[in-house]
Amino acid sequence: MIRRTKRSEFIGRRKTKPLKPAAAALMDQLLPQLKLDTAKPAPAELTTLFNGADSVFLEIGFGSGEHLLQRAEANPAVGFIGVEPFVNGLSQALVKIDAAKPGNIRLHDDDAGALLDWLPAGSLGRVFLLYPDPWPKFKHWKRRFVSQRNLDRIERALKPGGLFLFASDIEHYVGWTLNQCHDHQSFRWVASRANDWSQTEGGAFDGWPGTRYEAKAIRAGRQPSYLTFERVE
Ligand SMILES: C[S@@+](CC[C@H](N)C(=O)[O-])C[C@H]1O[C@@H](n2cnc3c(N)ncnc32)[C@H](O)[C@@H]1O
Repeated sequence: MIRRTKRSEFIGRRKTKPLKPAAAALMDQLLPQLKLDTAKPAPAELTTLFNGADSVFLEIGFGSGEHLLQRAEANPAVGFIGVEPFVNGLSQALVKIDAAKPGNIRLHDDDAGALLDWLPAGSLGRVFLLYPDPWPKFKHWKRRFVSQRNLDRIERALKPGGLFLFASDIEHYVGWTLNQCHDHQSFRWVASRANDWSQTEGGAFDGWPGTRYEAKAIRAGRQPSYLTFERVE
């Protein structure tokens, strides 16, 4: 069921099937420990949310958390903020986090736009937006996460020189994102070849662990594209 909640800009599914008891228990017990308290102002130095982190990366819409967890384990000096309002995905991520206990993950279970507004300016080294909901119908394009408004928010939260990393298997959304970032003018597309956007092999980001949605797209015969944008100084 698609619905817009009163308290949030998020448009999408919050929940499908009921949670298993173990996942429900983690939502009650582990989530409050990892969840950012956005009712209070953000700390001026965002790295203080993490023990010994020297930078902070954000993943928007992490689904079941495979990419978030693997990145966090591979980069212990980076603090990772993961955002996912879909309860069934979030609870599956909590099961993985509970098993691996990475120590450098904090979570937000609501719209990523509001979270970006909460973050201190220039506090992020990277923003990952991986396989965002494609909203393929023309009348729904305005729901796509990549918009001038959200690019303003990403620009503000990123450090100058910080990276916005986008992946999608939907060709129209890839072209849309190139156009939106071009129009915004605060993002420089870091392309080593003119047709970089269409490259699968060698086109994925450094240390790329893949995502669950990407594996599904490849199984269905769709080709992923990977775009890297640098926030201009
Ligand atoms: C197609 S799924 C991809 C999940 C994951 N990134 C992957 O590649 O497996 C898109 C995810 O983005 C989340 N999402 C949609 N709008 C969002 C928003 N405004 N803020 C944060 N997450 C959002 C959805 O709940 C969904 O889990």
